[in-house]
Amino acid sequence: MPLTVRRLRALEILDSRGRPTVAVEAELTSGASAWAQVPSGASTGRHEACELRDGDPSRYGGEGVRQAVENVERILGPAVEGMDAADQQALDERLIALDGTAAKSRLGANAILGVSCAVARAASVALGMPLWQHLAGHREPCLPVPMVNIFSGGLHADRSIEFQDYLAIPHGFPTFAAAVEAVVAIHRAAFRQTKAAGYRLTGVADEGGWGPHVASNEHCLELLTAAIEQAGYRPGEQVSIGLDVASSHFFEDGLYRLKTDGRMLDAPGMIETLAEWTDRYPVLSIEDGLHQDDWDGWAALAARLGRRAQILGDDLFTTNMERLERGIRSRAANAVLVKMNQIGTLTETFRATDRAREAGMLAVVSTRSGETEDAFVADLAVASGAGQFKPGSVTRSERLSKFNRLLEIEARSDLPYAGSAVFRRFISG
Ligand code: PGA
Ligand code: ZN
Repeated sequence: MPLTVRRLRALEILDSRGRPTVAVEAELTSGASAWAQVPSGASTGRHEACELRDGDPSRYGGEGVRQAVENVERILGPAVEGMDAADQQALDERLIALDGTAAKSRLGANAILGVSCAVARAASVALGMPLWQHLAGHREPCLPVPMVNIFSGGLHADRSIEFQDYLAIPHGFPTFAAAVEAVVAIHRAAFRQTKAAGYRLTGVADEGGWGPHVASNEHCLELLTAAIEQAGYRPGEQVSIGLDVASSHFFEDGLYRLKTDGRMLDAPGMIETLAEWTDRYPVLSIEDGLHQDDWDGWAALAARLGRRAQILGDDLFTTNMERLERGIRSRAANAVLVKMNQIGTLTETFRATDRAREAGMLAVVSTRSGETEDAFVADLAVASGAGQFKPGSVTRSERLSKFNRLLEIEARSDLPYAGSAVFRRFISG
């Protein structure tokens, strides 16, 4: 029985920063229907697909998304009515063609992604299948290792320090549930360590990590390593550290401006610093260590550290196939961060994770700093088989909705936890 799209509705809702975003409901002729909510970034890459905002200063400071909502209801909806909801590729191709621009700037990637996800979920409802299973197709799904934000800086914490994320990677556990328990203990221990070091903490940053005004960027690595130990885990063996440098956001006039540290570094200086820190701390993953358009610098960074750590491109690749292909050819990185709304459809998102696997690269499915209670991306992470997921921290319900969904999937399936096997190439080398 074909699952035919009957109608789409859309709504302007709010994300976890209180900024407007798009929700879409897809209704099928079978009577099944489902909603999907679209996330939104703050530390965005220059090459991301376009998030359409109204620009009308009288509403939400210009950030309203009524035009995107209207594009769903007036243009995208009527155009996909009657299409097979189970044929995601055909649906997404129709959406891409309707927009007709490379960056999805005519109708908005936020409008398009909402449709792509809502139809997929409605199809899974109609098929009586968990979303992850419907999305997985021929892939080998698994419970991903979460990369969990413990300390935040950069654009997610009012630039308290320059580096954006200090993450705990709990790979050395048999199950996802055990890994989550460990990171919760580490998040709490990090609070105690930070206070004991004399810093005040009164709340959490945009992704639920602590945002302390520490004396230097390196100090957070010390505090995190100590927190892992204090929580009772073995750094490097059970829990390693990930960094999202998000360096494009403090790169000005050719230099990386580490104001907190009183240092200005060029690309070789950054590579040297990251190499030293990888020696001193159990760093297993480095995201956006260099500027988003410094392809030569990235290749040098990957040559220097790529055997010991995941060199992960977020702003570098923006989940864009042309950029990913360039990165594969030039060996600019050994891993790609994948965000649905950087590209705008599910089909293109899976293309990135599939291509990474084929090229021998790792992939990390990621949320955005502006999230909603929708846990769609958790199912996507499982379905992709990528084995890694970046959901933010273990506080704030827009983060916990993803953790809780993964706990539910683990309890209700016999899917394996990806664990240390994902990182074997670094840990044994
Ligand atoms: P964003 O950043 O969602 O604010 O763009 C997250 C990241 O850089 O990984
Ligand atoms: Zn990033």
